[in-house]
This record gives sequence, C-alpha cells and structure tokens, in this order.
Amino acid sequence: MSVLNKKTVEDLDVKGKRVLVRCDFNVKMENGVITSDKRVVASLPTIKYLLSQGARVILCSHLGRPKGKVDPEFSMAPVAECLSKYLGQEVKLASDVVGESAQALASSLKDGEAMLLENVRFEPGETKNDEELSKKFAALADVYVNDAFGSAHRAHSSTAGVAAFVKESAIGYLMQKEVEVMGKALENPVRPFVAILGGAKVSDKIGVIENLLEKCDTLIIGGGMAYTFMKALGHQIGDSLLEADKVDLAKETMAKAEEKGVKFLIPVDNKVGKEYKPDTEAMIVNSDEIPDGWMGLDIGPETQKLFADAVKGAGTVIWNGPMGVSEWENFAAGTIAVAKAVADSGAISIIGGGDSAAAVKKLGFADKMTHISTGGGASLEFLEGKELPGIAAIDDK
Ligand code: 3PG
Repeated sequence: MSVLNKKTVEDLDVKGKRVLVRCDFNVKMENGVITSDKRVVASLPTIKYLLSQGARVILCSHLGRPKGKVDPEFSMAPVAECLSKYLGQEVKLASDVVGESAQALASSLKDGEAMLLENVRFEPGETKNDEELSKKFAALADVYVNDAFGSAHRAHSSTAGVAAFVKESAIGYLMQKEVEVMGKALENPVRPFVAILGGAKVSDKIGVIENLLEKCDTLIIGGGMAYTFMKALGHQIGDSLLEADKVDLAKETMAKAEEKGVKFLIPVDNKVGKEYKPDTEAMIVNSDEIPDGWMGLDIGPETQKLFADAVKGAGTVIWNGPMGVSEWENFAAGTIAVAKAVADSGAISIIGGGDSAAAVKKLGFADKMTHISTGGGASLEFLEGKELPGIAAIDDK
C-alpha cells in the first residue's frame, strides 16, 4: 500500500479549525501509571504541527479493551497529563467521548489549544464502527486526521467510520512515516532483502510469510514456529511447540521458497529446556535430535552464526518476532544475537512492532535500527500486504 496518494496534514488549511486527531495512545500502564510513553512521544510531531498552525486540536484514542463500558481503570487521564507535560500546555480531558463534556470543551477551544476525549472504547459503538457514533465524532470537528498507525488495522468508528462524515481528512506524520518506510521496503527494497520472522505460531505469521516470499531474497524462521517447519522436514522435535495442522503448509512454504529461489533458513541447533520455566535445566542440541521430554526455547549458537551471516551484507532487513523466549535471560541469547547482527549490518532495518520491538528496545539496540514500528497487529497486517481500513478511509490527494 502506498500512502503517497493520501492527503497528509500538510495538505490541510487548519487555522482556526477544529481538527479531530485519532492517535494510538494505547500505552503500557501499571497501577494507573504509564510505564512506556513511547506511543505518546511518537504522536507529538503531528500534534505540535497542528497547534503551530493555529488548529483547535481534539485528540482521541483507545486505551486497553474496556468493552464498550465506562471503566475508570482505562481512563485517558494519565495520557492527558503526559501530553500536557510534553506539549508544555494544558490538554484538558473531557469526561465523556462524544457527550456534553466533549462537545462543550470542543466548542470552547481556542486556536492553538488541545483537548483529549475520554477512551473511545467507552462507547459501545466504537469497535462496531457504528455509523451514529461516527457521525457524533465528526460533529465535534471540521477536519479529521488519522495518526494512529497502531490501530490502522481496525475498522472502528474513530479509526475509519468518522472519515466519511467530515469535510476533509488526512493522515498524520507518524502514519505517513510508518507506511512510507515499510511500503518502500516491500515495494522497492534495497537488495539483498532479508526477512526474519519469529514468534510462537505459524498461524499468526503465515500471511506475512506468504507475502514476503514473493519479495525477499532470504527468509529466516526462528522462534516457536520454527519447530513446525522442522517437523515438516521429518526432524525429531521432542516436546517443542508444534502446530500439527500446519505441517503440510510448512512443507508447501519451503517448496515454494525453493521454486522461487528464496534462501529459506530454519534453526540447525537449539537451546532446549526440560520445562517451560525461566530456570529450567537446559542444553544445546541439533535440530533433528531434540529428545522427548525436552522443548526448544531458543535458537542455538550455530544457528546464531548462520542467521548473522545471512544478515551480513543485506540491503534491507525486516524483522518481526523473537527467536526464543527472549523475556527469560536463559533463552534470550538467540534474539540478542540477531538484534546485534541486524544492528551491525548497515542495512535499512525495520522492526515490526509488538514483541520484537520490545525485545530490541529492552536489549539496547533501538537506536541502531532504521525504523521500529509503533504497530503490533497493524504492522503485521501491513507486512501481509493487506489494506488497512484506517488508511483506506482517508481522502486521496
Ligand atoms: C495495539 O496495541 O496493537 C493497538 O493499540 C491496537 O489495540 P487492539 O488490539 O486492542 O485493537
């Protein structure tokens, strides 16, 4: 998908206009405190630009999954506070989403002021893309901007439906950057193009595998899903994670890679554990020799070298999904080795959101990557080549 034909904030004349901006402020929280404000920070360029242009900015987002009911646990209050701090001006929080409080605050906004609606998922119509709710969102504003890349795969009222009922719509800077960087990698990559996919399940990643097989030069599979591919090769995988109903698909995928001349790499050795526990007894074994009673929890040292060599000299690397149970120190070495290899490769490096983004940040490699997506599910669907409803809904130039 290319966004080059979508209106961006810079195509809008927003002075004195009320601009509804859908952000993804679905930040990590613990006991009412934001533990990572990265998504708020990533949204600032669009907000600051609009404020500098004299817009009256009405921000909105979901937070968690409150299921269409008001639930104080999911209030946007901490986000309003965080925004006020970063913007150096007060961002007032409405006590509802599209009700009296939201309407009153929106109509009292002055040029260059910003406010925040309560959690859009407090409204039961939000996740159903309810038309009445979409109209209520639209009635708050003159213009709609979608900058919520992390939610662009959701066809909800505030992410998609609302666009049909405003005079003008555009994407924000964050959305633009995400889709341009990843879009270029998919459409016109600097080669060799290496894709690294990890994570637990083949079923979660098969769409991405299929799309990337059409585009990349090397496809690397690690993480829990690699064991289904090993099984497909007839290997003994002990008690490792297996999706028995995906073994044929794994065989077909490897045959397709061969037919297309795509180098297809799976682990040659593994760090296996006795139990699914951080401190379980562990050893290194070859991929065709995992004994019963043991399960693969990380790639082994030979595989680390194999994967690192494949990444060396790459022009573009896309990586989505950890190589093992990277949140446990004993089984993080594979993910660390791959993160290091990607960081050192000099390639355009794109990290899909979710677990791989978290791993790269936690392991200290974030600054070395070209782009770390703010989207989990959204970046996966984008890499699958799917149209994202939150972008499709926006006006063309
Ligand atoms: C995310 O965290 O991936 C996005 O904010 C979307 O959240 P959702 O899966 O609850 O729609």
